[in-house]
Amino acid sequence: MATSRASATASGRRVAGQKSMAEGGSVAPTPRLRDIKSSEGRRLKTGIKEFDFVLGGGIVPGSMVLVGGEPGIGKSTLLLQVAGRLQELGRSTLYVSGEESALQVKLRAERLHGSAEDVSLLNETLLETILATAGSQQLDAIVVDDNRRPLTDAGLGVIRQHVRAVQAAMDARGIAAGSATAARLFS
Ligand SMILES: Nc1ncnc2c1ncn2[C@@H]1O[C@H](COP(=O)(O)OP(=O)(O)O)[C@@H](O)[C@H]1O
Ligand SMILES: [Mg+2]
Repeated sequence: MATSRASATASGRRVAGQKSMAEGGSVAPTPRLRDIKSSEGRRLKTGIKEFDFVLGGGIVPGSMVLVGGEPGIGKSTLLLQVAGRLQELGRSTLYVSGEESALQVKLRAERLHGSAEDVSLLNETLLETILATAGSQQLDAIVVDDNRRPLTDAGLGVIRQHVRAVQAAMDARGIAAGSATAARLFS
């Protein structure tokens, strides 16, 4: 019952019995923009110039980035390089390969002159197993290289579900996982 609830002011004080303008709504905090911590300084630069550039200056902690493109355009190679860079920067990184075998990924890592050798590998397509495995380790970054299927409407539906599951898993671990609208990209 809204009228019997205490309302919270922006400063955190509670004003007993104060009604909100919209009946049933709760009063949310309204901090000044200057008091909101900017993520700019916290962006993680991979050092791969173009990759950092398209992300607006590096990876925002807690964000999910979907890299798409035609088969053969270089996604797997780029993402293994990104994983290698993150690992070199001291971020514990897991590369999940749903498409290629461990040997194929190993051979690609060798072609990248060993820069991704310290990245951990999981050969798996089942999201539940990926999340459980990732959750059992202290990881800073996960790269998931999905399989080669072209995107279809049904595929977008699956991605939408996966995004929600990953957001829920991040949420459960106290990682700010962006807004709920992120999944709308796939609607
Ligand atoms: N930056 C690059 N320059 C030259 N060749 C590349 C580059 N990135 C990938 N390749 C080559 O292109 C081919 C396809 O790359 P791959 O990463 O498997 O693409 P995708 O994952 O998009 O299908 C591979 O033979 C790879 O060695
Ligand atoms: Mg690939």
